[in-house]
Amino acid sequence: MSIHPYIERRRHLIELMRQGIAIIPTAPEIMRNADTHYAYRHDSSFYYLSGFAEPEAVLVLVAADTPKSILFCREKNLEREIWDGHRHGPDAAREQFGFDEAYPITQLDEKLVELLANQPALYCPLGAEVGWDQHILRIRSAVQEKSRSGIQAPDQIQDVRSLLGEMRLFKDEHELGIMRRAAEISTSAHRRAMQFTRPGKYEYEIEAELLHEFCAHGARHPAYTSIVAGGANACVLHYVGNNTQLKDGDLLLIDAGCELDSYASDITRTFPINGKFSGPQRDVYQLVLDAQFAAIESAKSGNSWIAPHDAALNVLAKGFIDLKLCSGSVDEVLESESYKKFYMHRTGHWLGMDVHDVGNYKTGDSWRTLQPGMVLTVEPGCYIRPSDDVPQAFWNIGIRIEDDVAINDDGNEVLTSAAPKAMADIEELMKKS
Ligand code: GLY
Ligand code: MN
Ligand code: MN
Repeated sequence: MSIHPYIERRRHLIELMRQGIAIIPTAPEIMRNADTHYAYRHDSSFYYLSGFAEPEAVLVLVAADTPKSILFCREKNLEREIWDGHRHGPDAAREQFGFDEAYPITQLDEKLVELLANQPALYCPLGAEVGWDQHILRIRSAVQEKSRSGIQAPDQIQDVRSLLGEMRLFKDEHELGIMRRAAEISTSAHRRAMQFTRPGKYEYEIEAELLHEFCAHGARHPAYTSIVAGGANACVLHYVGNNTQLKDGDLLLIDAGCELDSYASDITRTFPINGKFSGPQRDVYQLVLDAQFAAIESAKSGNSWIAPHDAALNVLAKGFIDLKLCSGSVDEVLESESYKKFYMHRTGHWLGMDVHDVGNYKTGDSWRTLQPGMVLTVEPGCYIRPSDDVPQAFWNIGIRIEDDVAINDDGNEVLTSAAPKAMADIEELMKKS
């Protein structure tokens, strides 16, 4: 893609800082075991500002009369490039990614001591990584040691993540284009999973079908570890074991989405392993679907962030009473929070480069207002563990239905609607396979 969005984002952040210097590192490489690393994933904010995907890199932005963006990165190294692959090196990186200056990462500390001199404010991610915080404080101390030569160290240290969170919360057309494509790939993965599911298969076999579809369309990694949870496993919210055999008569809950060009998708669908919903499964499924429709309807510009959650809760509370899971009036169920026995999480989160994306949910004491450009998930559910005070027909039913929703001027766009969720559509698709 063009480098202009990245240059424009750096310019915007410098404008928000007004003065001072920002130091933003990418993510470290993480060892899996012995000398083998996990697949490398850059830091989202670093990439948002730079478009630069190599490890061992730091972006420095100087807000001054003549603002500057400076990249520190690995030098060219023929030996390492034979083993590990291409490195841009500072000169090519400066040229290709539009930085004003670029230096070898080995010069970071000495250059930072120069760059921090007499800057009023220092912006960096605070508390994200203990080692990095200590590193930055040591550099600042090195600047302080020069005070007798009349040099001052920044006396304000600010968390750059609040500025970046606000920027990243609003997606532009370029970002929405990627998120639509990520959503499209993930919806076809969910359709594929429905078509491959049969009693007797193992959860990991269905996980393999999801990964196949992601990869076959250029999305090399899931945005988070896929949850493929048959029967009672669906009542474990973060189940990732994915190693149980699928049973005739149970439901399968799949929460999976690919990452494409650094953007996440996040979809949950729940469907019958044998292709046909049973009576009690139908009752609970339709309730969760109705709650999801009500929540999506409320996810529109001008409404509060909490409106979709409240809309879902109202539908669920009434349904729990009708199904004899909760007792009392809707107000009593909401007031006492007795619904939490079956619905214990919130109805969504921001979605973007991180699956649980950055951006505040409140301004001051109030939930913030939804605005065009924000993307969120809408994901009500119902999880019924065996319990004496619950009708046995519902035991071990775990259902969540999750879509990705972009707020726009007209209301919203559901990015993931191509994954079937009406019971008749799911049964029809599974019948064909
Ligand atoms: N898959 C993570 C979530 O739904 O929040
Ligand atoms: Mn989610
Ligand atoms: Mn999810």
